[in-house]
Amino acid sequence: MADLLLRNVRIVSCSDDTAAVSAPGFVSIDQGRIERIGALHDLDGSMRAEHEIDGEGRLLTPGLIDCHTHLVYAGDRAREFELRLQGASYEEIARAGGGIRSTVRLTREAGDDALEAASAVRLRELMRHGVTTVEIKSGYGLSLADELKCLRVARRLGERHPIDVRTTLLAAHAVPPEFDGRADAYIDEVVQHILPEAARLRLADAVDAFCDTIGFTPAQTRRVFEAARAHGLPVKLHAEQLSNQQGAALAADFGALSADHLEHLDEAGAAAMARAGTVAVLLPGAFYFLRDTVVPPIALLRRHGVPMAVATDCNPGTSPTTHLPLMLNMACTLFRLTPAEALLGVTRHAARALGLAANRGSIEAGKQADLCLWDAEHPAELAYAIGASPLRRRFHHGREHVL
Ligand code: NIG
Ligand code: FE
Repeated sequence: MADLLLRNVRIVSCSDDTAAVSAPGFVSIDQGRIERIGALHDLDGSMRAEHEIDGEGRLLTPGLIDCHTHLVYAGDRAREFELRLQGASYEEIARAGGGIRSTVRLTREAGDDALEAASAVRLRELMRHGVTTVEIKSGYGLSLADELKCLRVARRLGERHPIDVRTTLLAAHAVPPEFDGRADAYIDEVVQHILPEAARLRLADAVDAFCDTIGFTPAQTRRVFEAARAHGLPVKLHAEQLSNQQGAALAADFGALSADHLEHLDEAGAAAMARAGTVAVLLPGAFYFLRDTVVPPIALLRRHGVPMAVATDCNPGTSPTTHLPLMLNMACTLFRLTPAEALLGVTRHAARALGLAANRGSIEAGKQADLCLWDAEHPAELAYAIGASPLRRRFHHGREHVL
């Protein structure tokens, strides 16, 4: 007997690139895994389950995957938001010692418990919008102790909430104040101490860097990637967000899971990503909040067959949001993705961006039973409404939790 039977649901399995909707069907779940999927008329009397739920013809999708967040931080940057409204640019604020560094100050001051409590508020919001797997980066500690603290908090959030957390070490996010003007020396610290220690303690599932004019050079990024490779960790990259540094091609050279942002991506970068199987992670929240005008080259990515994921980029400076369905709307409205592409971007392709495609991101027998039931009949409705959250029920490892 199965643990749970979801019947009378329209399934968007996301198991191929169509995001097609099935005729009313059923999904059975056993021990946290999807056991069987079928059409309603195949549901004979022999199919028994401990619990049954009538989906009343609603849409069932895989649980959403937010594959790019900076969720663990303290404080906010509302003051910086005001400065930008008065005309200062994100880069100017960063160069004047604000931006990422101001969040670093507050995050360093916060103890583990305070940092966890502040981050848990955001994590619960993500869950209420249907997220069942989230990636969380460090990057607001920028010292050995503080980077490990952020990763520890991220791990603990995953242990204490019904959501899977994947952690990414982003020590190469900005140059910390004590290394002012000595970016190479800070990269020494990252590759000799921070990264090896995070790997030894198994606190990081991947390694990321910010390769840009206000971040790190391609040569510095390469050193971080080489250290990641030496420790057996896959890489990702904040690439071509504010300028073209050929970061996507560099990431692809290292077989990166993903290259993220990509507003300034060129053809050579897209071709390299396609060859390496690197996912393009689109972050429309940051594009919107920074009032960017350069749109990521979606047609180029499509032409090269690069899978596109969509994520919140939840962070205090460029994308203070936990609303993944809103990102679907923005990806369609601002980047011209189709609603089907947007949905695949937070399921199938997001799983791949985290190296989790084998057991997440689609509704298929044997995969983890992370599912969302929506007050909707068609995937376009998920992307259509601005800021609505039509989530009806959410299942994590086959279990429903009060959120
Ligand atoms: O993904 N671009 C770099 N990192 C973040 C922003 C971090 C911040 O401003 O606090 C991003 O946009
Ligand atoms: Fe980011």
